[in-house]
Amino acid sequence: MGKMDGRVALITGGASGLGLEDARVLAAEGAKVVITDVQDDLGEQAAAEISGVTYFNHDVRDEARWEEVIAETLDQFGRLDTLVNNAGLVRFANVEELDYDDFRLQTEVMLNGTFLGCKAAIPHMSRDGSGSIINLASVAGLKGISAIPAYTAAKAGIIGMTRSIAVHCREQKYRIRCNAIAPGGIVTPMTAQALAEMPEGDAGLDQVNNHGMGQPIDVANMVLYLACDDGRHITGTTITIDNGETMA
Ligand SMILES: NC(=O)c1ccc[n+]([C@@H]2O[C@H](COP(=O)([O-])OP(=O)(O)OC[C@H]3O[C@@H](n4cnc5c(N)ncnc54)[C@H](O)[C@@H]3O)[C@@H](O)[C@H]2O)c1
Repeated sequence: MGKMDGRVALITGGASGLGLEDARVLAAEGAKVVITDVQDDLGEQAAAEISGVTYFNHDVRDEARWEEVIAETLDQFGRLDTLVNNAGLVRFANVEELDYDDFRLQTEVMLNGTFLGCKAAIPHMSRDGSGSIINLASVAGLKGISAIPAYTAAKAGIIGMTRSIAVHCREQKYRIRCNAIAPGGIVTPMTAQALAEMPEGDAGLDQVNNHGMGQPIDVANMVLYLACDDGRHITGTTITIDNGETMA
């Protein structure tokens, strides 16, 4: 018996990094998993390699496409239990140097994309207690980091929105939970690129060198916990997975 037997999960940004590992773990526990992304080659490769995984192209900023993706998921698999709003990207520049276009890109993909996903999915999610929304925030949403003002804004916004959605679902007695996960540095293509761009002596680089980074499975294990019945009494919270970074 898998912990996700009979359940259907939708993971945005699932072609790479954390989303891809979430897909592996949920599928291994018996879920049918739909991953969406804008990187079609990687998404199709993941679907070919991992049993139980299907890929759809979807830019999370596209509200009309959200409706289609959920309709296609329900059509193929009959239900929707888990939504992981994971798609994301980061652009490095402080408030004085960041282009407004790059500010908008990050907030539109992560904050607006998460809003659109929740709005589109909630009316169609299972109401039998298996409904679980998991939003990828970041420790960046709990701190001030001068190099990534749009990213921190988007992630802090996700944390606040997660609480409001959890309360809404509770008030409406939907039996859909909504939580956020706030990882610290985890080894993925996103962080590999970020680290390569960081100058010697950067505070972020020091943090990594001194305390190490997590692995995608460290986040995927929590996604599974929140998606399956193990996390059935948890909603509205933000769980840090950062080896104590935000406690120091
Ligand atoms: N890796 C970390 O250290 C870390 C830490 C905290 C939070 N996070 C968050 O975890 C999530 C996953 O990050 P990752 O490290 O796996 O990065 P990643 O770059 O490996 O994966 C992100 C995926 O999102 C996709 N994506 C980007 N824009 C999109 C769009 N408009 N529509 C659909 N998909 C889009 C990318 O194509 C990519 O496949 C992100 O939200 C990120 O902010 C990561």
